[in-house]
Amino acid sequence: MDQSLRSSSDSTSELFDRDRHVRFLHMMYKLLPSDYQGQEINRLTLVYFIISGLDLLGALDSVDKEGVIDWVLSLQAHPKNEAELNNRQFYGFHGSRSSQFQSNDNEGCIPNGSHLASTYCALAIFKTVGYDLSLIESEPILKSMKNLQQPDGSFMPTHTGAERDLRFVFCAVAICSMLGNWNGMDREKTKEYILNCQSYDGGFGLIPGSEPHGGATYCAVASLRLMGFIEDDLLSKSETSCIINVPMLLDWSLQRQAADGGFQGRPNKSSDTCYAFWVGGVLRMLGGYKLIDEKALCGFLLTCQSKYGGFSKFPKHLPDLYHSYYGFTAFSMLGETGLNPICIELGITDTAAIGL
Ligand code: FPP
Ligand code: ZN
Repeated sequence: MDQSLRSSSDSTSELFDRDRHVRFLHMMYKLLPSDYQGQEINRLTLVYFIISGLDLLGALDSVDKEGVIDWVLSLQAHPKNEAELNNRQFYGFHGSRSSQFQSNDNEGCIPNGSHLASTYCALAIFKTVGYDLSLIESEPILKSMKNLQQPDGSFMPTHTGAERDLRFVFCAVAICSMLGNWNGMDREKTKEYILNCQSYDGGFGLIPGSEPHGGATYCAVASLRLMGFIEDDLLSKSETSCIINVPMLLDWSLQRQAADGGFQGRPNKSSDTCYAFWVGGVLRMLGGYKLIDEKALCGFLLTCQSKYGGFSKFPKHLPDLYHSYYGFTAFSMLGETGLNPICIELGITDTAAIGL
């Protein structure tokens, strides 16, 4: 990266410290701090941050790939027979053992806590460690995923319900895209739902009519791109034919860069490391990343870089895996030397996405 990008932070922070970040991820891989106990059910997501994080940092060789593959495979839910596959449950991946073997008091109901987000993370990990997705039993995933799609096109994350919004639309789209098979959804309905989430000011809310948010906006734009509904570098082409309002979205996204150089998720909120990816990624997908103040963003992110390795949400706080991962993706987008390029749409490296 151009050294001049760093000058604003030189007095308060070091440079991007790759080696320390690799050590941080290795530490998290061996033993998670007790603060993560409450997130046991999302273990697969935490492992995705570690494995894809190591890939971004060019340190994937240090990982026992076979061990990872076996563990992830062991979390897949398999229907025992055709009748079970047709029982309207979702057969994807469990987030952890505790979801896989949860107690079940309802007689006659088979425990199955598989979740769309865990399934997305499982496939993202497989792609990152180079496991051939044609080897997994994908038909039950796709067939049962259809039951999660609602009449308005949204997705719920499990067959037992919960919120239906753009996060799970994104997960469903990314799953179909990685499996190379769109039988898991009605794509037109999915598209309609996403378009209904664009607000009058250009950003996207999680559900139609809700306040626009950087995370939801990423989910919308990445999904439309994975489905092939919006093309590359829109800003350099005629925008008239685009199905979303690109000028308003560009304005909304650029306005999320705050005076301290960081990105916020919505107006009047503090800058937070993760939005350098969620909103920065939207700008990259639109072809508008060159319009941001990269030097100021780099300066903000370095104030969130921890001396223990990893990144925190806010400057000088303790690091966590989620913000560390999105800190790495942000530095990858900024072109930091030694970091692998990120495939924004899938949230894994370009190499993992292409399947090299
Ligand atoms: C607000 O939290 C958070 C949301 C409205 C959800 C954001 C969605 C994502 C980050 C995308 C998730 C992506 C996948 C792939 C499932 P908050 O009020 O704590 O945040 P804020 O104060 O920064 O707005
Ligand atoms: Zn955040």
